[in-house]
Amino acid sequence: MTSPPLSADAIRSTLNTVQIGQRLYVYDNVPSTNSEAMALAQAGAEHGTVVVADCQTAGRGRLTRQWYSPPGMNLYCSILIRRKRSRPDVVEWLSWLPLATALAAAEAVQTVSSISLSLKWPNDLVYGDQKVGGVLCENFQPASHGPMVVIGIGLNVNLPRESLPEDLRETATSLFEILKSPLDRNRLLAQLLNELEPVLNELTVHGANRLQHAYLRRCSTIGKLVRVIMGVEEEIVGTAESISRDGALQLRTSRSSATGAAPELIEIHAADIIHLR
Ligand code: BTN
Repeated sequence: MTSPPLSADAIRSTLNTVQIGQRLYVYDNVPSTNSEAMALAQAGAEHGTVVVADCQTAGRGRLTRQWYSPPGMNLYCSILIRRKRSRPDVVEWLSWLPLATALAAAEAVQTVSSISLSLKWPNDLVYGDQKVGGVLCENFQPASHGPMVVIGIGLNVNLPRESLPEDLRETATSLFEILKSPLDRNRLLAQLLNELEPVLNELTVHGANRLQHAYLRRCSTIGKLVRVIMGVEEEIVGTAESISRDGALQLRTSRSSATGAAPELIEIHAADIIHLR
């Protein structure tokens, strides 16, 4: 769908951050914006540097999946974040980073399009049960700096349904398909960075407490019966009750028909979730 091309000037025209995106790299085509951001960090790029590309040839998703990244339609961006070395709450900070980012992305989408996306735990942006976007955070240690995290965000923006690979047509959608008109990716990216900066400051200065409340309000997983897939052979069914202080999904397991095991409350830290009802 036609909308303006990505341009640094257009992004900057509505950007009102102090740090995030002040250094901005716009590419036509990269293997992965996360990899590109890591390479820039190796060469000395600073906290807050943003990489955005029109197209990725090796975009990656969570759990070693590929991220479908055709040109001219979507948003693929990565943000370099410096990790403070000796935080006592580093585990909470690291585990909330992707959840907080998904929250900021959903707020940005709502501001520019009025579309209210939900969050499917941990960090999928969904409309109903169809995926519109996702977040992939990767930790690394560039030679010249302390530890860093690259936050990668992919959003299906102006992607028409017929351009989706067939195996994704039932489970994925785009803002264009919901809105029935194209969105300016420059405006959307600037808003995403405008929303992300205060969310990251909140997480870094005050911890996850207030973000946890905001996340729970948007999270469509809570209260649902879900299937949790943790490995090839490991699945658990239960009701999602809440999100813990360290971002884990608190699940009340269903009584096992095979073993008769009683329901218990367990915490899931990383898995794939299917909403059952
Ligand atoms: C997911 O699996 O839901 C996370 C998808 C994250 C995709 C984005 S696109 C920009 C950045 N670069 C990548 O290679 N992946 C992330």
